[in-house]
Amino acid sequence: MSPTHEAGWAHADGALRGPGWLRPPDDANALVPALWSSTTRKVDGDLIVGGVPIPELVANVNTPAYVLDEADLRARARAFREAFAGYDVFYAGKAFLCTTVARWVAEEGLSLDVCSDGELTVALRAGFDPARLGYHGNTKTEVELTRAVAEGVGRIVVDSFNEIERLERVTASLGRSARLMVRVTAGVEAHTHEYIATAHEDQKFGFSITSGDALEAVRRVVAAPGLELLGLHSHIGSQIFDTSGFEVATRRVLALHAQVGQELGVTLAELDLGGGFGIAYTTQDDPSDPAQLAIEITKIVEHECRALGIGQPRLSIEPGRAIVGPAMCTVYTVGTVKRVELDGGAVRTYVSVDGGMSDNIRTALYDADYSCTIASRESDAPPALVRVVGKHCEAGDIVVKDEFLPADVRPGDLLAVPSTGAYCRSMASNYNHALRPPVVAVRDGVATTIVRRETVDDLLATDLGVAT
Ligand code: LLP
Repeated sequence: MSPTHEAGWAHADGALRGPGWLRPPDDANALVPALWSSTTRKVDGDLIVGGVPIPELVANVNTPAYVLDEADLRARARAFREAFAGYDVFYAGKAFLCTTVARWVAEEGLSLDVCSDGELTVALRAGFDPARLGYHGNTKTEVELTRAVAEGVGRIVVDSFNEIERLERVTASLGRSARLMVRVTAGVEAHTHEYIATAHEDQKFGFSITSGDALEAVRRVVAAPGLELLGLHSHIGSQIFDTSGFEVATRRVLALHAQVGQELGVTLAELDLGGGFGIAYTTQDDPSDPAQLAIEITKIVEHECRALGIGQPRLSIEPGRAIVGPAMCTVYTVGTVKRVELDGGAVRTYVSVDGGMSDNIRTALYDADYSCTIASRESDAPPALVRVVGKHCEAGDIVVKDEFLPADVRPGDLLAVPSTGAYCRSMASNYNHALRPPVVAVRDGVATTIVRRETVDDLLATDLGVAT
């Protein structure tokens, strides 16, 4: 390594400085606690999660690996259940689901949302009570709906007129009834710190309130003999940091709820406000805790119900990311470090790791920001701005766009990326025939693999051209 790098080129004239929000740390070894699961510590440079030193865990399971802090996940689930007492809290399984996690959330008193036959299968194989399952999806097939009704899924969230007809047929042929919610589009799309009203009718989910489709859907469900309508459902987006979007959506959805009472003479028992509560990926993010969210959301509902002169329905929410996201980190091994001179003479350091867009597509897909730390040693080197990239055949295969690591980051270092619990393993792929990494649960010093690493045999299992 050249002396300029040792001195910390990030501070030199013309050097890359990274985004405005990213400040060079005083100590590039230090953790930012708010970004890590609650049991995470560093001792002499070794990252320790759930009492398990990461280098030790890696010696057993190799990298890349997702490390899931059981105590942290359970505490987040509990925090939602306690803060939203009197609500039903559905864990949104799409964020991350396996049988072990389904059991944990059941033990913590949560219900579970699934949105495919695969997720339903995992939930049932975990022994999840079907009555505590919700079933989402904008185009569920007759086969899927038949299974959901036959298994006694507690509520199916309907999303189209075709689906209402399909459910009428399914319930008639099974001779069973089904409990439904009608998913409505409130005309609010939440973005990270703002919401933009109006344009968002233009999307595939839900029945529009504005167009009258939502009321018509309610009318049809109420009229159908095998269908029991529990209430309305609204989900306004993801990674939301304030309740202003919820406030606008709740006002619109409750207005429809009241209209259903007046025009159809039907008092809907329930109302689901969806998920989408934001988490911290980097120091830019400042999420509210569940207690604060519960106070604000409950206040909004109480206020609106009073204003409309209606009784309060039973409420439910569906957090996914906020329960599992911060509970997991991904551990990689650094393979190469390459310094690339850019136009103008600045240098970007590319740190390549043994995973990438196959285990975390979020950076490439959503331009998401992440952070990272070296998990296997302490360094005296000054902080240097780096870009962490994966091993896939795409220039956009970026894991962490910008981070300060010790300038002597080198092959063999373990690198950990926090807050990868939500939508990383669940959206993982076999791109370049990568083997999807294991999920290793850690708790009180014990590491347990709850989803094993894929093998080459797994990859070839569906390839019917393989010679036997
Ligand atoms: N309920 C419904 C109806 C949803 O569609 C979703 C997420 C949730 C609840 C849970 O949202 P959460 O609390 O996890 O934000 N792949 C994207 C996120 C897609 C969210 C899809 N729906 C990402 O990685 O950011």
